[in-house]
Amino acid sequence: METTKDLAASAGDGVAAEQWAAKFDSACARIAGRFRRVEPRRQARAYLPSLPSNVDTLAYRQLAEQAGDPTPHRTTAARRGDVGRRRPAHCAETSPYSRVVNMDQVRTAYTTAAELYIELFGTSKQVHADDLAFIGRHLASRPGTVLDLGCGPGHLTDYLRSLGVNATGIDLVPEFIAHAQAAHPSGSYQLGSFEDLAVAHHSIAGILAWGSLIHLPPKDLDGVLAEFRRAMAPAGTLVLGLFVGDEVAAFDHKVVTAYRWPVDEFSERLTRAGFTEVERLQRPSEGAQRPHAAIAAVAAEG
Ligand SMILES: C[S@@+](CC[C@H](N)C(=O)[O-])C[C@H]1O[C@@H](n2cnc3c(N)ncnc32)[C@H](O)[C@@H]1O
Repeated sequence: METTKDLAASAGDGVAAEQWAAKFDSACARIAGRFRRVEPRRQARAYLPSLPSNVDTLAYRQLAEQAGDPTPHRTTAARRGDVGRRRPAHCAETSPYSRVVNMDQVRTAYTTAAELYIELFGTSKQVHADDLAFIGRHLASRPGTVLDLGCGPGHLTDYLRSLGVNATGIDLVPEFIAHAQAAHPSGSYQLGSFEDLAVAHHSIAGILAWGSLIHLPPKDLDGVLAEFRRAMAPAGTLVLGLFVGDEVAAFDHKVVTAYRWPVDEFSERLTRAGFTEVERLQRPSEGAQRPHAAIAAVAAEG
């Protein structure tokens, strides 16, 4: 079995960031309940600041609490860098393409955060009224199947169904799908990935991807949009929500690394993939909310 020392060696070795994060996650899951002595706990805590952001602050606290830490908030401080930030050199914060995460890491991170995510964001009452109106305006009248890709707790799938839409929610995370099925028993939810949709060409009337493309490394976006276009029926509508910035850049989203985009640049990617933007909604930063945009785009002819 791997020890914390092995992990330290891996961290110092410059092992690939995602490999290192995955090793740390799995080791923490195995040993979290066993921390008795202070030293291993200190060692484990010392590695937290250098972790890519694949678990949110609360998860760190929970981990520290499980480990018997009487001051779990200090783990949060360590995470912020107050006790010496040790980020691997290949994870430079300034590079827009650094801290790339893969699908397994996204799944793991949301699995860890699922309960909290459901509590904080799991009903349509927690969604901005302008966003609900935007989603409804573009998807409510779609004739045929609409996929809510990266549906999370399933509340927007349910919202679409309440508008009479034949909506199915799809997500990577079994906890979200189980919750969605329990909370909305008449709904339709499936485990799956939007990177590879199990649907025929041009069979889908609409797609909602609300906040679910934010973790995609920019180099992977075109492939996913091409898959959406492949699935989309003629004149099918794509609605998506994203975080906005002046340039494409990674940031420490609470769950796992995410990317902000200039809206025009994202829209160009949609055009390249065969979609035509028909409406955009932008909202500046509000309190803790980051600048946000929604785009509605229609599958272009051809
Ligand atoms: C920020 S959450 C948004 C969830 C939901 N749409 C909402 O509005 O609350 C991102 C969601 O995308 C899902 N996701 C990320 N990558 C995915 C993929 N490749 N396939 C399916 N779901 C994915 C995550 O599991 C997570 O539920």
